[in-house]
Amino acid sequence: MPLKTYDSIKPIIWKEDKLFLLDQRLLPQEETYIALDNVKAVAQAITDMVVRGAPAIGITAAYGIVIAARERLKEQPENWKSIIEEDLDILAQSRPTAVNLFWAIDMMREVIKGLNSDDPVAMLLTIARQIHEDDIAANVKMGQLGADLITEPCSVLTHCNAGALATGGYGTALGVIRSAFAQDKISHVYADETRPWLQGARLTAWEMIQENIPVSLLVEGAAAHMIKTSQTDKQPIRWIIVGSDRIATNGDVANKIGTYALAVMARYHGIKFMVVAPTTTIDMNISSGEQIPIEERSDTEVLGCSGQSIAASGAQARNPAFDVTPAELVDAIVTEKGVVLKPDFEKMRALMTNVL
Ligand code: MRU
Repeated sequence: MPLKTYDSIKPIIWKEDKLFLLDQRLLPQEETYIALDNVKAVAQAITDMVVRGAPAIGITAAYGIVIAARERLKEQPENWKSIIEEDLDILAQSRPTAVNLFWAIDMMREVIKGLNSDDPVAMLLTIARQIHEDDIAANVKMGQLGADLITEPCSVLTHCNAGALATGGYGTALGVIRSAFAQDKISHVYADETRPWLQGARLTAWEMIQENIPVSLLVEGAAAHMIKTSQTDKQPIRWIIVGSDRIATNGDVANKIGTYALAVMARYHGIKFMVVAPTTTIDMNISSGEQIPIEERSDTEVLGCSGQSIAASGAQARNPAFDVTPAELVDAIVTEKGVVLKPDFEKMRALMTNVL
């Protein structure tokens, strides 16, 4: 069945010299774009989850730096290249775990250093657009490579939202699901609702419905039961497919909180665990997942839901936004440069030697 709408889901748009972000906090009830014209507002939009998902955060930061350059050039044309460092710092503090943010900032910083152009803003915009387009191309490629790993028709389970909304377009984990569904290899998608932000219930379900891909939501606590009981179905759950926010050199994978639990379940039940992420998500500066900074967000996100207080008054809450799945629980890391089966340090290094 042909894919219908993936290229119409656009979380990030640059138009008429402005950055527009689809406000993902309002989806699926409302499709509203927010226009941003200063770098502080861009950083705040990342912190506040207007835009989220590792690659989408990186792309947004790149456009944010175009906006910052425009402002700094106007104020201080002589030393804008040093003053813009303050803006890069503001962006770098917006969220800590997704390494794509730091990758995009470093990439733009290097371009700024070497800029001699008459029109630096136009040059930076070309680079930001390229980062955006490269991400979509990487996702389409990973979609194909990941679908090739699925050898017989089955159901799959995914977590959070690693779709078009979390990237430049098409998606990482949902890119594989899109490609495999188009090849009749996937009949049904189970999506964890993903407390506290409900990216599964609100965003993944929305994307799947637009593609006519059958989707059933699960509360996270139902995943183990569904994996176990589906094994007697005609098309059982054979793969868990997720994205990532940062992958260490040894193949440890940080992703949305709850991913680690799914990897343990997959191993226990003898099903496969696939991580789909572009090479911009691989952090060659860290040797293991223990070095990945894990964002801890406000307890109010757990104590309530959709702005409504639900927990017993006086209860405390912890709200780690990500966890780390050890490499030994990962069956495949799918990147645009190739697939690493049973990742370890040697295999990851070999993959990245072609990239660096
Ligand atoms: O807190 P979020 O919504 O930014 O978390 C997103 C995830 O954990 C995604 O799985 C990850 O960024 C990969 S997106 C292609």
